[in-house]
Amino acid sequence: MDLEENLEENIEEEKIVAEAARAAETAEDSRALYEVKMQYLGRSGKVTSLMQHMKKLAQELRPTFGKRVNDLRARLEAMFAELDARAKEREMAKKLAAESVDVTMPGRKLSHGALHPVTIVKNRLIDIFAGMGFEVFEGPEIENDYYNFTALNTPADHPARDMQDTFYVQGGLLRTQTSAGQIRLMEKKKPPIKMLSPGRVFRSDDDATHSPMFHQMEGLVVDRGITLCDLQGMLDEFVKAMFSETSKTRLRPSYFPFTEPSVEVDVSCHACGGKGCALCKGTGWIEVLGAGVVNRRVLENCGVDPDEYSGFAFGMGIERIAMLKYGINNIKLLTENDVRFLEQFKD
Ligand code: PHE
Repeated sequence: MDLEENLEENIEEEKIVAEAARAAETAEDSRALYEVKMQYLGRSGKVTSLMQHMKKLAQELRPTFGKRVNDLRARLEAMFAELDARAKEREMAKKLAAESVDVTMPGRKLSHGALHPVTIVKNRLIDIFAGMGFEVFEGPEIENDYYNFTALNTPADHPARDMQDTFYVQGGLLRTQTSAGQIRLMEKKKPPIKMLSPGRVFRSDDDATHSPMFHQMEGLVVDRGITLCDLQGMLDEFVKAMFSETSKTRLRPSYFPFTEPSVEVDVSCHACGGKGCALCKGTGWIEVLGAGVVNRRVLENCGVDPDEYSGFAFGMGIERIAMLKYGINNIKLLTENDVRFLEQFKD
């Protein structure tokens, strides 16, 4: 068309629309269609440049010309909008067909985290003893010689130190027993005391039932008139709550520098009921903790008058309780972090 000449006669809308429709037909997808649209309606598209020619027209011709171009723009816009909608529909259908969903397929399993068996047992212990009025007190993992040994009536030359070889750091050691917490608490708090002290302890030990790091739960009761009978009564309650209603305890004489008398506490085997099985190695009893009446010297070391007050203390390995409760035969399983092992302990 010759725009320079009789411009208003030469717009040829039908021809332009037909031409645009043909070009649009060749577009493979919505993106190509957009390119075609731009050739007509874009900033330097055909329709836009028609508009620019308007300034060359006589003033009186401009309104009619402008309207025609605008109408043409509107027709093209409507046409492209419809073609674009259809192209996008086709594209979506194609995409859905490619991504066909098998509704009979099993869903993806969401895995939930769970508490570690040592944490489960620790929480259970706290629950049981909190019910008897014990309060939790946590001591530091890096201790010094005084709290870990000396104040617990285990001076530097004491042979009992040999059994608790540990890891030494500058100015201290990794505590070998939560018993150190007994001293720290008694220095702070006057009787009556009912303390429960859970935490990590460290020893130079390593086999199927011992690990260089493990957890203990310490208990300490100090008041007027506390005896071994109180310890025994409390332990009976404890094993019933922890293992089974029919569990019983047995005290055997033992030795700890910080208790006098000292005992090892056995619980009747919950697997065989005391008849003897593999778990209890045929004896019907399983050793669960060490305990005793607090040694007078320990009370004295903490400024507690042993003629006025007495107490009992106990300490148990949390891993050991967990192993007994769940039938775990190797302590290493508790630190290997194998999810297949750990996920069996969801409550
Ligand atoms: N601390 C002792 C140990 O580690 C256990 C214990 C605690 C014994 C309290 C008596 C009293 O073996």
